[in-house]
Amino acid sequence: MPITTQKLLRYKKEGRPIVALTAWDYLLAKALDEAGVDLILVGDSLAMVALGYDTTLPVTLDEMLHHARAVRRGVTEALVVVDLPFLTYQESAQQAIQSAGRVLKETGAQAVKLEGGYPALVETVAQLVQVGIPVMAHVGMTPQSVHQFGGFRQQGKSADSAERILQEAIALEQAGAFAIVLEHIPTTLAMEITQKLKIPTIGIGAGNICDGQVLVTADLLGLSDWQPPFAKAYANLRDTIAQSVREYGQEVRDRRFPTDS
Ligand code: KIV
Ligand code: NA
Repeated sequence: MPITTQKLLRYKKEGRPIVALTAWDYLLAKALDEAGVDLILVGDSLAMVALGYDTTLPVTLDEMLHHARAVRRGVTEALVVVDLPFLTYQESAQQAIQSAGRVLKETGAQAVKLEGGYPALVETVAQLVQVGIPVMAHVGMTPQSVHQFGGFRQQGKSADSAERILQEAIALEQAGAFAIVLEHIPTTLAMEITQKLKIPTIGIGAGNICDGQVLVTADLLGLSDWQPPFAKAYANLRDTIAQSVREYGQEVRDRRFPTDS
């Protein structure tokens, strides 16, 4: 049975952790879906891991749609959520509805994610939900604001900043978000938010008490050329690829590949 936003709420109630990962193309999404991932995020981190940019800012909505269509073709079970990229939703609720509407209509994904919790953004989330578009929220270290933060720095360290992030999370739940990503904030703050909200919290660099976890799959696979300190590599695909390619290269140069058979 395909995962729904309602099912993720039930997982929180049952204390069953939600497994989320990012994907950017068909084969990767298919492998994650077959391995039982609950939520596949077409994250705008694909700007960095699939397109080679230094930040998530340059990726366009058309590029996100292109990747999301490929991911969607590989998924039958997981909930597919697509990031709205920088400046495709911040201008107005109308702009957000246009962008999110394109995601749902043109890719077959079930939900969108957007960053932030300031009042205008909370109102935008409420309007998206009113027109029937499921929204995953994202607070803490929101990478689209990297230049304002002066780097991919932990947020919510001071009491003021922690209180602001908590209030944003509460407001986003009230606006109708079905889940919320907590990125790179202290574990104590993530715990407080997780306890206060009824919707599931999905952590990344936010400790192990969140209702679920998400990682950028390039980091998990050891494929990234850079990864944040809180990411864990469960494989070293960069080395595996280099080794396989060197072996292939050697066999071609030695005329050992292909063989007659
Ligand atoms: O773009 C992304 O990969 C994300 C996750 C890290 C939550 O937003
Ligand atoms: Na993102």
